[in-house]
Amino acid sequence: MKINGAPTRTLWPAADGSGDVEIFDQTLLPHRVEVVRLKTLDHAARAIKDMQVRGAPLIGATAAYGLALVTRGDHTKADLEEAGRTLKATRPTAVNLAWAVDRMLAKVLHAPPTDRREIAYAEAAAICDEDVETCRAIGRHGLALIEAAREKKGGGRVNVLTHCNAGWLACVDWGTAIAPIYAAQQAGIDVHVWVDETRPRNQGASLTAFELGQQGVAHTIIADNTGGHLMQHGQVDLCIVGTDRTTRTGDVANKIGTYLKALAAQDNGVPFYVALPGSTIDWTLTDGIAQIPIEQRDPTELTRITGRLPDGSLAAVDIAAPGSPAANYGFDVTPARLVTGLITERGVCAASEAGLVGLYPERGR
Ligand code: MRU
Repeated sequence: MKINGAPTRTLWPAADGSGDVEIFDQTLLPHRVEVVRLKTLDHAARAIKDMQVRGAPLIGATAAYGLALVTRGDHTKADLEEAGRTLKATRPTAVNLAWAVDRMLAKVLHAPPTDRREIAYAEAAAICDEDVETCRAIGRHGLALIEAAREKKGGGRVNVLTHCNAGWLACVDWGTAIAPIYAAQQAGIDVHVWVDETRPRNQGASLTAFELGQQGVAHTIIADNTGGHLMQHGQVDLCIVGTDRTTRTGDVANKIGTYLKALAAQDNGVPFYVALPGSTIDWTLTDGIAQIPIEQRDPTELTRITGRLPDGSLAAVDIAAPGSPAANYGFDVTPARLVTGLITERGVCAASEAGLVGLYPERGR
């Protein structure tokens, strides 16, 4: 995708060949486009924890490079294992993080120490390249659903509602939930996106709106509580959201508030799709509500808002009653029964074990 007309991914090895990795600091978007250099494991872990990079696929890719950074200096197998634990501890809900760390460790731990650097960087690059192709395929499969929605209404503009940011900023390129929208744009379909602001960190208003604007996709930011009203008035043709972890039975963890959108969609007969790469499926879990760990973050994310002042500087202001406690749950779980279908790189399936195993037969029991 593009920022200010220039094609870019969300992370890349530094052009000077040092092995450093570069990212956009997403905590500054959309107000400032700033590139940050990750030189150490600690930099990578901090970038994930502080959400300079975020979104399930991108934190997995960043963790992969975090391990590669360790292989640049003297290190032992124990150092690599400890680095893996450090990275996994940064954020609990998105399973892509553990998936990427385990994939990297499986490649490098048993390699001769002198080969580890080369192997680690090649594997991290492969994870990134595969993510791009996976998301492109998700876009292709999701496009068919947008085309079907257009046919159903007899042509004209298709209105898609999305929550949080599951676009290219959450991945290496393309995105998961937003990939079908980019595919629709390229296919010449008139598509418009209702962008939930996504309190408390506003990934919708700041990141999804930013990236859709950069790619020239029609969109409108709405307050988080608006979706139900729009659905009641026939203004949403389908919902597409991403996910940070999906169980083998099709329960979906995604940004807090997703569940309420799925309930409203069900009540109004609006199709509710979830887009995900295979790396987001946790094949060990069967009950999302009971088993998926839900991240709780600093309550000040809820009580304080950061934005740009007229002079261009960034500032944070407190918006809550001083002293009132606040609880900041990052994610919720939408049960499979509320999900119309899962859009994966292998096609669209029912949100169920049978549906998922049908697409990933190697995961059958
Ligand atoms: O807390 P974040 O910003 O890392 O959350 C990630 C998200 O944006 C999502 O919940 C998203 O929809 C799934 S990640 C493609």
